Amino acid sequence: MQITGISALVVGGTGGLGEATVRRLHAGGAKVVVADVNDEKGKALEEELGVRYVRTDASSEESVLAAIAEAESLGPLRVSVDCHGGPAGGGRLVGKDGSAMPLENFTKTINSYLISVFNVMRLAAAAIARQEPLEDGQRGVIVNTASIAAYEGQIGQLPYSAAKGGVVGMTLVAARDLSPLGVRVVTIAPGTFLTPAYGKAGDQLEAYWGPQVPHPKRMGRSPEYATLVASIVENDYLNGEVIRLDGALRFPPK
Ligand SMILES: NC(=O)c1ccc[n+]([C@@H]2O[C@H](COP(=O)([O-])OP(=O)(O)OC[C@H]3O[C@@H](n4cnc5c(N)ncnc54)[C@H](O)[C@@H]3O)[C@@H](O)[C@H]2O)c1
Repeated sequence: MQITGISALVVGGTGGLGEATVRRLHAGGAKVVVADVNDEKGKALEEELGVRYVRTDASSEESVLAAIAEAESLGPLRVSVDCHGGPAGGGRLVGKDGSAMPLENFTKTINSYLISVFNVMRLAAAAIARQEPLEDGQRGVIVNTASIAAYEGQIGQLPYSAAKGGVVGMTLVAARDLSPLGVRVVTIAPGTFLTPAYGKAGDQLEAYWGPQVPHPKRMGRSPEYATLVASIVENDYLNGEVIRLDGALRFPPK
């Protein structure tokens, strides 16, 4: 599928991975809706690139539908990329003081990183399914974001790993569900990416993680995520798959 002339929704579009995706899809000729809760960065992107920012809470049906309506008003909505963040909790299952992890740490993370992803995916899929079919009956593609923590969760990461494992688990079944509608579903599982959100702490993270990555010996860069999004959009035969983007990094236990 060509990027030029389509409309694309990027949820979490002002974040590190999201902004790079917005820039890549915009540069490729798509009309882009930046759906996020960061008004300041959203409006700055709107001014700089001429994309549309819609304040969007990924967990809310009403809010996501408003962003989708905006995207549909710009052109045929064929791409929905979800790379939003949100509140999360962690900790050991049983702490050093013998107490069990608070249930809230788990539910909060699952709400942000799994249920909200499902919410965006179901609504975006229904909207993409309304578009005119292209070659081979295809209508569009959904790209979700997991993490390599779905496979190698580190100590203290149980809720996040469970949420990301859920995103991995949804991928094939969603692709199967949506196959009669011509909508593909692909998930990216990033390793460690250095994004502007880390600020000065980024240098320390790079010094810690960089040497642990087999090759290249550095953290990932947001445009590398965005390049993969563009490849997924353009390659019609990619479907129902989770793609690790991690320089062959495998997380150690801690
Ligand atoms: N950066 C990494 O190393 C890395 C690695 C693996 C997976 N990931 C995943 O990629 C995604 C993006 O990561 P990032 O590094 O770009 O994070 P980020 O914090 O830079 O961006 C996340 C964005 O989500 C937005 N957001 C928060 N709550 C929201 C909500 N309810 N609705 C809509 N938007 C909301 C934030 O405003 C922010 O712009 C996350 O799901 C993260 O778990 C990141």
